[in-house]
Amino acid sequence: MDDPRVNAPRMNTAAIPNHVAIIMDGNGRWAQSRGLDRNRGHREGVESVRAVVREAHNLGINVLTLYAFSMENWNRPKLEVNSLMGLFEEYIDVELPQIMEKKIRVRAIGRLDRLPRATRVVVKHVMKKTANNGGMELVFALSYGARQEIVDAAKQLMRDAEAGKLDPERLDEKTFSAYLYAPDVPDPDLMIRTGGDSRVSNFLLWQIAYAEIYTTDHMWPDFRGAQLVDAITDYQGRERRFGLTSAQVQGGTDGADGATSESE
Ligand code: FPP
Repeated sequence: MDDPRVNAPRMNTAAIPNHVAIIMDGNGRWAQSRGLDRNRGHREGVESVRAVVREAHNLGINVLTLYAFSMENWNRPKLEVNSLMGLFEEYIDVELPQIMEKKIRVRAIGRLDRLPRATRVVVKHVMKKTANNGGMELVFALSYGARQEIVDAAKQLMRDAEAGKLDPERLDEKTFSAYLYAPDVPDPDLMIRTGGDSRVSNFLLWQIAYAEIYTTDHMWPDFRGAQLVDAITDYQGRERRFGLTSAQVQGGTDGADGATSESE
């Protein structure tokens, strides 16, 4: 997994985003534009996953979330669904030694009970095997939909309220967040979408409230370490205001004059 290419010399290493989330789009178009079948595109997309995980680790990113399979993807032809599941299983199988060596902790979020048995077994195995790793967290969104995540959280909240474990009057954002799939994972700072579209596509809707969004025309198979560095360099040029004014952010004040607003 080690790559001698050094993509990072132009980076401000002090301002690396803590959590980067990626919508990996464009495998099919990458393949079709070369007269290849879509599966070839997904296979090449796996090479990008390898490269981006390696670069994220080298850069010191703490959390990398990859949108590997959406709830909507279940509606694709069965052959394509099976092939995507197989590629994921193969990726974990091949990469596990490197994942362990780099102390990466792998997790999965989504309606995992819907995954085929073989995929569930692989997910369970890699999560268990890497659970005590203290390095980068690598989160795969698999059979994932953000609306479904919010509905699942609401269902559990209602059960807890009914059981008297939760007072609805005391429900706040922090309590709600605790019901999401990975409550201990901090919100993404940067969300990247490849493939040329500017959509959120039901990805981490709650968690990206204040994420910087970066879109690129590169199809996912063309997005490698150098393109990740480009995205982060762009992110480092942004001013994150979190609802404050630019002057407040520049002056380092916390908005305690009562002017705090959640809108920008
Ligand atoms: C989008 O391409 C990509 C996906 C459906 C998910 C990403 C899957 C991989 C990178 C392969 C296996 C995953 C892992 C994590 C090893 P698309 O088919 O929507 O492209 P299109 O918009 O051009 O049709």
